[in-house]
Amino acid sequence: MLYKKPISQLIKEAGTEGGLKRTLNATNLISLGIGAIIGAGIFTLTGTAAALHTGPAVVLSFILAGVACAFAGLCYSEFASMIPIAGSAYTYAYATMGEFLAWIIGWDLIIEYLFASSTVAVSWSGYVVSFLKDFGIHIPANIAQAPYNYDSTAGTFTPTGAIINFPAMFVIAIITTLLVIGIRESARFNNIIVVVKVAVILLFVGFGISYINQDNLVPFIPDAKGPGEFGFDGIVRGAGIIFFAYIGFDAVSTAAQEAINPQKDMPRGILGSLVICTIIYILVGWVMTGMVNYKELNVPDPIAVAVNAGGSSLFWLRFPIKIGAIAGLSSVILVMLMGQPRIFYSMANDGLLPAVFSKIHPKFKTPYITTIITGIIAMAIAGFGPINLLGELVSIGTLLAFTIVCGGILVLRYTSPELKRPFKTPFFPVVPILGMLTCFYLMAGLPWHTWERLIIWLIIGLIIYFTYSKRHSHIRKGIVKFPVDPPEPEL
Ligand code: ALA
Repeated sequence: MLYKKPISQLIKEAGTEGGLKRTLNATNLISLGIGAIIGAGIFTLTGTAAALHTGPAVVLSFILAGVACAFAGLCYSEFASMIPIAGSAYTYAYATMGEFLAWIIGWDLIIEYLFASSTVAVSWSGYVVSFLKDFGIHIPANIAQAPYNYDSTAGTFTPTGAIINFPAMFVIAIITTLLVIGIRESARFNNIIVVVKVAVILLFVGFGISYINQDNLVPFIPDAKGPGEFGFDGIVRGAGIIFFAYIGFDAVSTAAQEAINPQKDMPRGILGSLVICTIIYILVGWVMTGMVNYKELNVPDPIAVAVNAGGSSLFWLRFPIKIGAIAGLSSVILVMLMGQPRIFYSMANDGLLPAVFSKIHPKFKTPYITTIITGIIAMAIAGFGPINLLGELVSIGTLLAFTIVCGGILVLRYTSPELKRPFKTPFFPVVPILGMLTCFYLMAGLPWHTWERLIIWLIIGLIIYFTYSKRHSHIRKGIVKFPVDPPEPEL
């Protein structure tokens, strides 16, 4: 279970020699990070967290989650500069910590990417329905919502009267189709979306500030009502939930081969996008809970609700905000749905998943089978899953992956001190240890039901590993394959 994939082999497989063009500088990388980060977390889950767990103290939850991400981001940067090839935590783990932990991370990343795309699609649906309503087009509620609401504290489901969340399924179907045919989110396209979504958020903050009603911000930390409901406990639970809002900075590492100066610019891209997003999130949380009472924010489009509270003089702002949210959410879905098949692809190339997962379409040159499988599962989850249940699951799964990444950095400094580390996590070993502790602390704040789902998911993963993957592992069988990277699909 400790078989490792030699870094030299990884680099060959990735075809760095004569490989992709190195065109991305630190600014492009930061923009890539922001493109993947800002999505359903800020546009929807902030409202849910404030209404049910934190009140205005959602701002403190953002700080807490941001700190955990900063520690993990530093450890991620060390990995990304040590193994500067296109990969994910799965690839890093395979090279440094052995097959078993790599499998656990790869399996866990499915929760991050696949379930996150569904979560963001549900948020997309909320904004699209609200946008169309402004134009007099009413999508019936019974086909635009999950059939059940989920009370995360009690772990109970209540029927909503709806049958299916059709718009959420629709957007996944469209994006999956684009990905099969071959669309590559070019750096330029991504930059435009990033500018649009950051601009609408800044418009919201800039204009919203003068509509803050101080009464809404008092008490800043509402009295605790029960475990995870307001008070200090609620802030920790809230941080675990809105941790979702930060997920995506790891996507920067997948562009390592296209970075002009990966050793220096990877950490800049990862940490730069994190810092910018943390500042934006704190401002949005503060303005949102200041404009409208937090109790009214448990809706799919809380920013729009806050703008409505500003009255007719702010009416004009609804339109750009919804457009910005819809565009921004679409790009996050695209990144997630593009990342997942590529992780399946890497795992299949290593023999840990059946070879069919690494099949490339003869004409479109895309990993079409995994893209379609990912799309169908993501559609089913988006059509029926309540957003808070999905969001919490994604958060706990990603927190686990980050905990392992921090642990990996810690262990490797002792076991493989000889590896070249162009970027070193500062204040070693304090940062990786604090990274593990804070990520675990946020996990501990999430409800037990979410833990149960994670444990069941991991048990399924272990069964597959021991019955299939371990027996078929290429490294274990001595098969050295140098497959080409999944070809970059062109529009
Ligand atoms: N951070 C991403 C979002 O909030 C996943 O949508």
